[in-house]
Amino acid sequence: MSSFSATIARITESERWPKTPSEWALPVAAAVATGVALNYIIRPSEGYPGDRPPVVSSWIPWVGSSWEIEKDPDAFFRQAEKDFPGGIIGVNSAGHKFYFVTSSSLINQIYKQPKVYTLSPVQMGWAKAVFSLSDHALFGSLVFPERLAPHMDRSIAPKNMMGLIKSFETHLRQEVQTRAVPWQSVSLQDFVIKLSYVATGAAYFGPTFNAMGTWDAFKGFDEMVYKVALGYPSSFLRNFVRCREELINKFIAYLDKPHDASELIRGQEEIIRDVPFDKRDMGCMMLCAWWPMMANVPWGTLWVLLNQLQRPEGVQPLIEELAAAGKAWSASHPEFVGPYTLHLTEFFQSNPSLPLISSTISESLRYATDSYSMRSVVEEEVQLGPYTIKKGETLVCSTRSVHMDENEFEDVREYVPTRFMSDDGGAKGTEGNFKWMPFGGGVSICSGRHFANYHVKIFLATLLTNFKFSVDADKSQLPITVGNINRGFGLRRPKGDLSVKVTRA
Ligand code: HEM
Repeated sequence: MSSFSATIARITESERWPKTPSEWALPVAAAVATGVALNYIIRPSEGYPGDRPPVVSSWIPWVGSSWEIEKDPDAFFRQAEKDFPGGIIGVNSAGHKFYFVTSSSLINQIYKQPKVYTLSPVQMGWAKAVFSLSDHALFGSLVFPERLAPHMDRSIAPKNMMGLIKSFETHLRQEVQTRAVPWQSVSLQDFVIKLSYVATGAAYFGPTFNAMGTWDAFKGFDEMVYKVALGYPSSFLRNFVRCREELINKFIAYLDKPHDASELIRGQEEIIRDVPFDKRDMGCMMLCAWWPMMANVPWGTLWVLLNQLQRPEGVQPLIEELAAAGKAWSASHPEFVGPYTLHLTEFFQSNPSLPLISSTISESLRYATDSYSMRSVVEEEVQLGPYTIKKGETLVCSTRSVHMDENEFEDVREYVPTRFMSDDGGAKGTEGNFKWMPFGGGVSICSGRHFANYHVKIFLATLLTNFKFSVDADKSQLPITVGNINRGFGLRRPKGDLSVKVTRA
């Protein structure tokens, strides 16, 4: 036995150490209780002096309100906003203090003043924590701000993205036509998200990309991204790290073989080979490009289907609206041969009148998105609404709080398919509606929002015109509510699912 182990053995044998649970349980419980009590006594009180924002009290240091938020984020914020209606609420979570801005007018003030409220360093740290890029890749040069981010923004700008959209449409049609339709009832979520994963993967990375070979790892990664980004140490999330490594390795293998990628991926690859990044960072960069695409867009289409299929009228009114618009479009566009469903990109480019479909998409985004735009204050102090915010403090524009505010929208907790239609049945739209913010706002507004708009519509139209979905209520996991996964990063995942019998339309 080494001298070290011998010393440990001597100590543990000594009578000074309690040996049975009855000997140690009481002192341990007393110590924990004292810690919690002390934290309660010295915790920041709700009545902060002067005009500082209130802070929700929490019992356990470092953890703060994390557990309560995780249990039911909507209930947590509903209660906090009732207790502190001033529009800004301090929350301790996973070792950070965040000031959640919950009022639409204060959020819009922040969005309009990018020099006062700059991108938060917390947000900057996400790339490192989530994707695990090396410091050399992230901070060793200006390749991110000066080359990679502008390339991404350029590739998905409306005037450049149509090739990628058309490619998605084509791959999706191929997949839909060749895929065997399951004979038994299946999970709607699984059916929809996998289909999108394969078709979008082929459009993004080219036909040689084995999307389904990355599916399980992507799922394990994706469902934990929000936790890692919000500060939960990744060492607590072993499965996340395992899945991330698997994905990175698969992307490295993909890059090593000949591939025929989209312009977006090809341009990104050229940049990282030119710098050059090492192999692991190259794999990470592919994941950085893939995750924003898959983490939100297909879920938009899924939420429309889930919401509509739970209503008595189902998806029939959407099918009818689409058929009428398609017929009118074909009549006025004889240059496109065959049915409009072979030309969905061009069809949607012509901005057809689809007030109900547009409204169901906007409403599903209102109903299920939860975006945290994080900002930092650069001046010594700023006045925001009734409160003073100090230099370096982290503000989180909580767009879901606005979407769920009864003063902003009627029946906020209901999915109302016609909410974004005018009284005469036309489109009301969301342009200039500063209360509808699924894509965030200001300088960091989602640069993929135009792309997302096409993707959601093409995917929805393809599903509605190719398949019939009959809900098997007995096998469905009901009720379907807005779950926690992905809170803060766009579309939250459904909790619950519909079991559906799928047949060809
Ligand atoms: C329904 C689909 C989507 C939703 C709900 C969504 C939502 C968001 C949100 C909330 C932000 C943060 C905004 C902020 O901090 O203020 C964001 C940023 C971003 N999104 Fe999306 N997104 C979607 C689709 C996409 C797609 C398809 C892409 C790319 C292909 C994309 C690329 C980006 C990028 C690059 C940013 C960072 C923008 C910046 O900081 O300059 N997003 N998105």
